[in-house]
Amino acid sequence: MNEEGAEETVAVGGPESAETLFSTTFGCTNCHSLTESDTASFGPNLAHLASREWFAGATYELTRDNLMNWVMNAPGMKPMESQSGCPDPEKKCVGMPSFTEDLQPGQPTMTEEQAATIADFLLEKTQ
Ligand code: HEC
Repeated sequence: MNEEGAEETVAVGGPESAETLFSTTFGCTNCHSLTESDTASFGPNLAHLASREWFAGATYELTRDNLMNWVMNAPGMKPMESQSGCPDPEKKCVGMPSFTEDLQPGQPTMTEEQAATIADFLLEKTQ
């Protein structure tokens, strides 16, 4: 790859790379899979997210802005009280957490830049 191309490429594997943000920093992989799989997960499978026009149960148009806002603060866009898909019905499942509000102690607050990195990663990866 030439130097110009390298500058435009999102770093892979670095501390702020999209993959690290998605799987480690914010733990999206605890609830979502990016590949077609039979393994049940708590959140929707994201393998073909970018090929869809709508997301979040056909509530929002799949634009980069909507996706960024969702990734930062999904409960701010849709109430998260559904018990459907709850792995333990005895507990109250609250759906997708916010990464900017009501954070658990020690949980990092997601910046807009990180949300943009994740949104671009998803749009690229899940076509
Ligand atoms: C605790 C589990 C959990 C975590 C962690 C989580 N999500 Fe979710 N996510 C959900 C659930 C549940 C939904 C479905 C919400 C709905 O539509 O009511 C969802 C929906 C989504 C959707 C819309 C999917 C669709 O098919 O409409 C996207 C995109 C998404 N999450 C991205 C992320 C990203 C990026 C992260 C990490 C920053 C993340 N999620 C972390 C549980 C989670």
